Amino acid sequence: MPSRLSRILQELEDDDYRVLRVIERNLSRYEYVPVEVVERQARLPPSRMLRSIRRLSDLKLIRRTLGTLIGYTLTYTGLDVLAARALMAKGVIEEFGDVIGAGKESDVYLAVAPGGRRVVVKFHREGKAPFHRIRRTRSFAAGMTRRSLILWAKLLGEREFKVLVELHSRGARVPEPIAWNRHAVVQGYVEGAVELYRQPPLGEEEAIRVLRQILETVRIAFQDVGVVHGDLSEYNVLVVYRDGGVDAVVIDWPQYVYASEPHAEELLKRDVYYIVRFFRSKYGVRVDEGEALAYVRGERGEPPP
Ligand SMILES: Nc1ncnc2c1ncn2[C@@H]1O[C@H](COP(=O)(O)OP(=O)(O)OP(=O)(O)O)[C@@H](O)[C@H]1O
Ligand SMILES: [Mg+2]
Repeated sequence: MPSRLSRILQELEDDDYRVLRVIERNLSRYEYVPVEVVERQARLPPSRMLRSIRRLSDLKLIRRTLGTLIGYTLTYTGLDVLAARALMAKGVIEEFGDVIGAGKESDVYLAVAPGGRRVVVKFHREGKAPFHRIRRTRSFAAGMTRRSLILWAKLLGEREFKVLVELHSRGARVPEPIAWNRHAVVQGYVEGAVELYRQPPLGEEEAIRVLRQILETVRIAFQDVGVVHGDLSEYNVLVVYRDGGVDAVVIDWPQYVYASEPHAEELLKRDVYYIVRFFRSKYGVRVDEGEALAYVRGERGEPPP
């Protein structure tokens, strides 16, 4: 069954994209873009413009202000559509498939790239605490305007893509970064992966191998790239069974902090602690947190145990 996104992409016409883009462009000036501005810049005959506005509203890609002046803003789905269309126009994506992960922080889609390659497109949502410096609270989210939420989501997309490029080029075990547009990040699909929190079966040696690979990646990030993941846990590690062996892939990097930032040390400690604790309680792997931390900081050559 085609996903809602791919159905919308098929349904929309050029006029609709034009109107969407005009609204997006003007969000730097307006919270709700006045209908006159849309009319003027979209340069469409009134009847076509009205038809587009209606279709976009029905599909919930734009939302009308409840005030007395008529104006429109983009919804997240509207932003998704613009990013998806751009990725298709650039030849990065051929077709969008099913949602494979949906949460408060992102919607993750399976997609097909040219040549039939399966990839993942992660659309960021507003959300994660601003890089852990400000606590995420309801009042914080409520205080953000649509405009700032969209800018925020785009910033997360850019951050995630760029840090994946750095990490991947230095041999960290992360998904391969392929492209980014707005708030959408295209990455290699990790085939046959199981999230670590589901506790995939691992023998003693396999568990040690996976833990070491995670610590190696944390070390590369800290030592070679100069960043700390900041949200590392069993929820952001994929375990992949391939060629008779097992490997770790560390995902979900947009909230990273630079190693030089004040809270970096604290976050590094917490990241390491969560992972070590998980392997101890679920797989019985005994690793000293201090030793693991010394390794990721480069004060010890070999990962424990
Ligand atoms: N490159 C990938 N290959 C395979 N699966 C992936 C990939 N990236 C993400 N996923 C799947 O999507 C889920 C969510 O991804 P991620 O952790 O990056 O996003 P998130 O911001 O935590 O979003 P959510 O709020 O949905 O948890 C993962 O748990 C995993 O199942
Ligand atoms: Mg995650």
